[in-house]
Amino acid sequence: MEIQHSIPALREALQGRGRIAFVPTMGNLHDGHLALMRAARAHGDTVVASIFVNRLQFGPGEDFDKYPRTLSADCDKLRAVGVDVLFAPTEQDLYPTPQTFFVEPPDLQHLLEGACRPGHFRGVATVVLKLFNCVQPHTALFGKKDYQQLMVIRGMVEQLALPTRIIGIDTVRAADGLALSSRNGYLSAAERAEAPRLYQTLQSLRQSLAHADLATLPQLERSACANLEAHGWQPDYVTVRQQANLLPPTALDQPLVILAAARLGSTRLIDNLEV
Ligand code: PAF
Repeated sequence: MEIQHSIPALREALQGRGRIAFVPTMGNLHDGHLALMRAARAHGDTVVASIFVNRLQFGPGEDFDKYPRTLSADCDKLRAVGVDVLFAPTEQDLYPTPQTFFVEPPDLQHLLEGACRPGHFRGVATVVLKLFNCVQPHTALFGKKDYQQLMVIRGMVEQLALPTRIIGIDTVRAADGLALSSRNGYLSAAERAEAPRLYQTLQSLRQSLAHADLATLPQLERSACANLEAHGWQPDYVTVRQQANLLPPTALDQPLVILAAARLGSTRLIDNLEV
């Protein structure tokens, strides 16, 4: 696996490499990331991964400073799944001067995750566009765990006519259902034992939808939150939304997705389940 840090060296390394399948990450790789890398193989002649902890998408008081940086272990994992090129820029490489041009996503950026983390999706969209400009991928793969992120990126690619096909890959879960996430590493042993309740909450809300109507939906969402609270969580939201736009449903036979974000101790976890 070739490792490149600077944009010019990356561009040079990618000359004549055919169609590129790209997986951007912030590192601290787990099996969810590796599933993206394996899937990427089917979509290009060359698989490129990036590792960059993007300051622009973290708000004040979030975990930018403590976000785990594990480059050497990550490189071993990427080699084992056959990634061809790793782009691992420093902040100086990617933001040699302060970034003052931004991609401003539409109102979708202010819902749900965006309401809890103002500016987050603007930071994500900006770095993803910049990484796409560096890598020039034919295809890029993202996990569905970050459901809203995937929608923002799909919208950006469509509206800015970027020549990249976006593929969403199903969330990889631990045996007990917990969605794999780099932030799971922050959980204490007791919190890790409790953490699968987030996915269980989504599953039981999905079951309840079978007997619900639009008028009873808010009550179902409130009881899902109350159940988490009763077990020591601080939920930001548990909500049923339309897959198309993440707005509240106008009918229950639409394609829906249940999304949740909740804090367990000091760790904030997110998950979702399509209906
Ligand atoms: O999902 C992530 O790891 C990040 O948000 C991404 C897409 C790599 C942008 O920094």
